[in-house]
Amino acid sequence: MTWLITGGAGYIGAHVVRAMTEAGERAVVYDDLSTGIAARLPAEVPLVVGSVLDGERLARVLVDHGVTGVVHLAAKKQVGESVDLPLHYYRENVEGLRVLLEAVTAAGVTAFVFSSSAAVYGMPDVDLVTEETPCAPMSPYGETKLAGEWLVRATGRATGLSTASLRYFNVAGAAGPELADTGVYNLIPMVFEKLTENAAPRIFGDDYRTPDGTCVRDYIHVVDVAEAHVAAARALCAAAPGRELTLNIGRGEGVSVREMIDLINAVTGYDRPPTVTPRRPGDPARVVASADRAATELGWKAKYDVQDMITTAWEGWVRQHPEAARA
Ligand SMILES: NC(=O)c1ccc[n+]([C@@H]2O[C@H](COP(=O)([O-])OP(=O)(O)OC[C@H]3O[C@@H](n4cnc5c(N)ncnc54)[C@H](O)[C@@H]3O)[C@@H](O)[C@H]2O)c1
Repeated sequence: MTWLITGGAGYIGAHVVRAMTEAGERAVVYDDLSTGIAARLPAEVPLVVGSVLDGERLARVLVDHGVTGVVHLAAKKQVGESVDLPLHYYRENVEGLRVLLEAVTAAGVTAFVFSSSAAVYGMPDVDLVTEETPCAPMSPYGETKLAGEWLVRATGRATGLSTASLRYFNVAGAAGPELADTGVYNLIPMVFEKLTENAAPRIFGDDYRTPDGTCVRDYIHVVDVAEAHVAAARALCAAAPGRELTLNIGRGEGVSVREMIDLINAVTGYDRPPTVTPRRPGDPARVVASADRAATELGWKAKYDVQDMITTAWEGWVRQHPEAARA
């Protein structure tokens, strides 16, 4: 099969490209480089620079490269920004997906893997979030991911396209320093940034109903996320037309903000105690996946732990911020 990987020059996308090619699949990347980095890609993987909003371009690329499957990661992903720019997020994430699906169905592609997110669940009040937990996104970003799942599912039902929506939990780590996340949008890089500035890491609220009072999340190594794509791609190809999967991609293990900061201090050697500031609006106390369905449907299970994520993320951070290295 030849797979078009949209957003393949991004943080997760570059790991997916690597995992798919190592698994023997052919890959073509389609990316507008708005946040992606071309140098993340192996030289042998073709990169087409273009937007998923450009249907004519997509149609040509699908035919020219003989594409038979698509992994769609291209999107805008900042929750806070989506609150200020909802129309931009709906255009990029929902209209971009609609245009892509139009091209995909016209070209006779048979398999489609969609990057969804745990953000579709919003503030789930359960110990473990299953795929049956009601979806109630709290931001325009989460809404675009849920609407995206609906679009993907409806298209599959109407056309026989086999589809998988993968709801990633908190993605972290890197396969190598050159593939590390360059954004500072989630806990690990936010703590790294504070430590590098010789400032105390911040905990937003320690009065949640959790064991140590701080928020609990499910962190998943990006290499495990990439392997889940390979497994999903294979499952769709092996299935009869119209296969439909919606799967949590997490470890099923909760780690609190305080535990993460302690681990980060230990890995980086900074040993800087955190300060506690008031809660941020909209932060759920606990979001931890049940990963059982992915194990059953794909035979996939996460291999890496939080220590691996912090260590590899730190190597990437030090590469980008050499002043952060401790003697
Ligand atoms: N990082 C996370 O923790 C996380 C969690 C859940 C879901 N996701 C989803 O995973 C996907 C990848 O996220 P990431 O962390 O790698 O982000 P990223 O910003 O590093 O990657 C997104 C990629 O898409 C490209 N892109 C954006 N808009 C495009 C467009 N209109 N046309 C073509 N290319 C476009 C960017 O240039 C970039 O290479 C996104 O769909 C995101 O919503 C990420």
